[in-house]
Amino acid sequence: MMNDITRPQGITDGHSIERALAESEERFRQLAAAVDQVFHIADPAAGRLLYVSPAYERIWGCSPAPLFQDLSSFLDAVHPDDRTRVEVEQAQPLTADGTDIEYRIVRPDGTIRWIRDRVFPVDAGGDTPGRFAGIAEDVTERHDADARLRESEARFEAITNSIDQMIWSTRPDGYHDYYNERWYEFTGVPHDSTDGDAWNGMFHPDDRERAWATWRRSLATAEPYHIEYRLRHSSGEYRWVLGRAQCMRDVDGRITRWFGTCTDIQEIVEARELLARSRAELEAEVVQRTRERNRAWEMSSDLFAIMGLDGTLKVINPAWTTTLGFDEATLLGRPFPEQVHPDDHDAVRAAVERLRRGESIARFEDRLRHADGSWRWITWSLVPEGAIFYAVGRDVTDEKRRTAELDAAQEALRQAQKMEAMGQLTGGVAHDFNNLLTPIVGALDLLQRKGVGGEREQRLIRGAVQSAERAKTLVQRLLAFARRQPLQPVAVDIAKLVTGMADLVASTTGPQIKVAVDVEEELPAAKADPNQLEMALLNLAVNARDAMPDGGTLRISASKEDVPEGSASRVNPGRYVRLSVADTGSGMDKATIARATEPFFSTKGIGKGTGLGLSMVHGLASQLGGALTISSRPGLGTNVQLWLVQAVETTKLPSVQEPAPLATGHGIALLVDDEELVRQSTADMLADLGYQTIEAASAEEALRLLDKGSYFDFLITDHLMPGMTGVDLARAMRQQRPGMPVLLVSGYAADDGIAPDLPRLTKPFRKDELWASLSDALKWSSV
Ligand SMILES: Nc1ncnc2c1ncn2[C@@H]1O[C@H](COP(=O)(O)OP(=O)(O)OP(=O)(O)O)[C@@H](O)[C@H]1O
Ligand SMILES: [Mg+2]
Repeated sequence: MMNDITRPQGITDGHSIERALAESEERFRQLAAAVDQVFHIADPAAGRLLYVSPAYERIWGCSPAPLFQDLSSFLDAVHPDDRTRVEVEQAQPLTADGTDIEYRIVRPDGTIRWIRDRVFPVDAGGDTPGRFAGIAEDVTERHDADARLRESEARFEAITNSIDQMIWSTRPDGYHDYYNERWYEFTGVPHDSTDGDAWNGMFHPDDRERAWATWRRSLATAEPYHIEYRLRHSSGEYRWVLGRAQCMRDVDGRITRWFGTCTDIQEIVEARELLARSRAELEAEVVQRTRERNRAWEMSSDLFAIMGLDGTLKVINPAWTTTLGFDEATLLGRPFPEQVHPDDHDAVRAAVERLRRGESIARFEDRLRHADGSWRWITWSLVPEGAIFYAVGRDVTDEKRRTAELDAAQEALRQAQKMEAMGQLTGGVAHDFNNLLTPIVGALDLLQRKGVGGEREQRLIRGAVQSAERAKTLVQRLLAFARRQPLQPVAVDIAKLVTGMADLVASTTGPQIKVAVDVEEELPAAKADPNQLEMALLNLAVNARDAMPDGGTLRISASKEDVPEGSASRVNPGRYVRLSVADTGSGMDKATIARATEPFFSTKGIGKGTGLGLSMVHGLASQLGGALTISSRPGLGTNVQLWLVQAVETTKLPSVQEPAPLATGHGIALLVDDEELVRQSTADMLADLGYQTIEAASAEEALRLLDKGSYFDFLITDHLMPGMTGVDLARAMRQQRPGMPVLLVSGYAADDGIAPDLPRLTKPFRKDELWASLSDALKWSSV
């Protein structure tokens, strides 16, 4: 049968044909045995198999023998599920193209194999009926692979659609050709409508450029794609998604596909934004709080510091620099103890010890060095915390100074009040004493002048006169202290007065003491009573002498001084001539200075000092509108300063009066004094001087006498009397008798400054003094 189909064309020689055929048949057999395919030839009309290659037994697992008898038995091996289909196919007339059919067979051992069977008609030539030739091959392997692939794809689909993420895939060139169902659900677009570049429209316009750029870079570098962008949702809104993609490579490393996912992260982004916003708000608040706190820190005039318990400054605020004058670097750079007053070191150490024990300190004071060399008082409140403590300090230097000033002012006021009280007391006593003294002096003077009695009586009288004179001086001093000394302040050339007294002072102080006079040139005149001022200077010189029993230097100097408004001086603001008497003597301690101007205060022992010297000088200075200041240090010396108000113009010093020989006058005097004894004494003196006298015990009585028409040439009247005063009386009299001479007798400074136009006489007085004043008054009135 083989020869029919394998006979070589063109070989006709019998023997060689035989041989050639045999060779050809052998080659075919070998070929057929070698290939995996099954060749088969059948005679469909006879329903018999004509030939089948050996591969059949390998594939079918059984002998083909039955097929040679009955071709249809071939169907027995076909899988029952495929049998009908194969039968139907076989029933079809075979076209020239043949058939290509796949079916399963069940081998005797039960295993199933897939067979691909291609059959085509073969023209056997001549009348020989057509035969079918075929090639059957085992395609089980391929079938399994296809099935596996299909299953894998189905699984992939299932997986990609079973997760929340959108999944897509692209070709190596980035052409999108796959999306899972989530993608279509999210975007709401029809299937396959976003393939290729078509999904461009899905990006938020603001993100499009960035997303493409990132995608292009991944395509170019094969690096994973990772990006957040907004994607259009089916609702029309854009939602934030996280895009990721990774490439897949083949065994040669070539990129075969990209697989990507989009994850809706809108909620995460919103939460993140919320978080960022609240964090930003929190930060802003912190910044604001910090700024406020910083402002308090920067602006405060209080000193803020954080300090170590080892006494180091760690952080300080600008108030340190404003308060202490040093810049921050200097303050932080220098050990803190160096900035504290040495006297406060112990207190600081004790305070740090308390802080170390964890105690807070509400009020602690120490002094810190200022750049100008001064010390500032700081009051602290201190709170410890671990190894540090917080300190808040306030500069109380000015407060302390003010308190001290206030204390001093209050002390001065107390002192002044005490002096005032003493002055009033002393003044009252002195006034009474003066009135008692006036007739005594007057009487003694009369007795002396008249030469009453013998030698012995005259001696007694002289002694009494001397005592009376001393008493008079004492009373004068008391009155001076009480500022009730009748003063005749004029503009005094201090330079001249001081220089003129130098010799007198030197002779008073003695040879052991060097007297220096130092007067400023062109010194303005001062308002003073020259006689009293000389007394004051002498008093100060005597005090200086007493302080220098072993000698030393006494310096009297005078200078011009201005005390400006608001100055801290103990002296009221104004323009002064300052007269100072300085010695190099024993000096005074604070307690002595405080009491030195008190009347009767003396350290000199009973009988040696009256304690009225400085009192008098002090009273004089005050009465003249000036002041007395004392500076002194025990062992170093004393400087007593007399501040006299500058006078507007200088008046020539009145020349020292020569005692004029007593003449006698004539005329009638109206003598007014409430004190009987004083009046009596004065009347006696007037009589002595040649005058007649009409007496009145009060101003009112005097006016009554005038009204009654009593005649008198002049008026001598005491000033201070119960009822109308002497000055008022004088004025009233002059109203009725203009130009009438008046002599005012006063023993009391309350009279001072009033009626300066009236000539006056100070109690107690002697006859010659009365005479001088009287002649002045009469002369003056006649001008
Ligand atoms: N220059 C001085 N140096 C040291 N102490 C003085 C000086 N001047 C005054 N004193 C002290 O002040 C006291 C009062 O002085 P004050 O002149 O008022 O009285 P006194 O000198 O004691 O007595 P008197 O002046 O009546 O002789 C003195 O006793 C003395 O202690
Ligand atoms: Mg004295």
